[in-house]
Amino acid sequence: METGLRIFFVWMHILGIALWVGPQFFLAFAWVPTSRRITDARTRVAAMRSITRRFGYIGGAGLLLIVVAGTYLISTWRDYWGIPSDVGFLELRYGWIFTIKMLLLVVMLLLVAVHVFSIGPRQIELLEAQAGGREIDEAELARLRRLSMTLSILTLAITLVIMVMGVSLSIGEYSTREI
Ligand code: HEM
Repeated sequence: METGLRIFFVWMHILGIALWVGPQFFLAFAWVPTSRRITDARTRVAAMRSITRRFGYIGGAGLLLIVVAGTYLISTWRDYWGIPSDVGFLELRYGWIFTIKMLLLVVMLLLVAVHVFSIGPRQIELLEAQAGGREIDEAELARLRRLSMTLSILTLAITLVIMVMGVSLSIGEYSTREI
């Protein structure tokens, strides 16, 4: 039963990661270059609004699965790895890797929040105004584009590092060594 639960939650964790990471690569390497070929500005910005919203739903669902499954994995770690309760969490590599992984997760979520709630909407608003033929501040749009690209790259880089840390946790002969 416990092994079955473990398999289920590791699967859920990985499914969530796939839903979180996959769309990031898709947006950067499929959507961005393809969208440049849409010559009508209104169509392009409408497609951008729709695709980024759906990206939010898929990625958000991914994050939810990651957190639910991750909570199970960390609440059962001692039993799974057979670590006695008198061994402190931070006496093992496991504790340090997990703690740093969670700190990186917080940093990543802050970057995503700035992107989703501030930079992204402002960028789309300006693009819509431009597509509607209104005068816009081109320098501001260029600044938002740069910021948005920087945030995307940082988010993806941190995600990849968090994945390495997750895999290190699951390799017991490495992670359960004393520090
Ligand atoms: C609340 C957030 C999270 C918690 C509590 C959590 C917890 C854990 C734990 C405890 C493990 C190791 C299980 C073991 O002992 O074998 C693990 C594995 C893993 N985590 Fe997370 N994690 C979280 C978020 C993430 C995120 C955001 C990513 C990457 C996007 C990630 C990627 C991984 C990977 C790739 C593994 C290895 C899975 C395997 O093959 O066993 N985790 N996670």
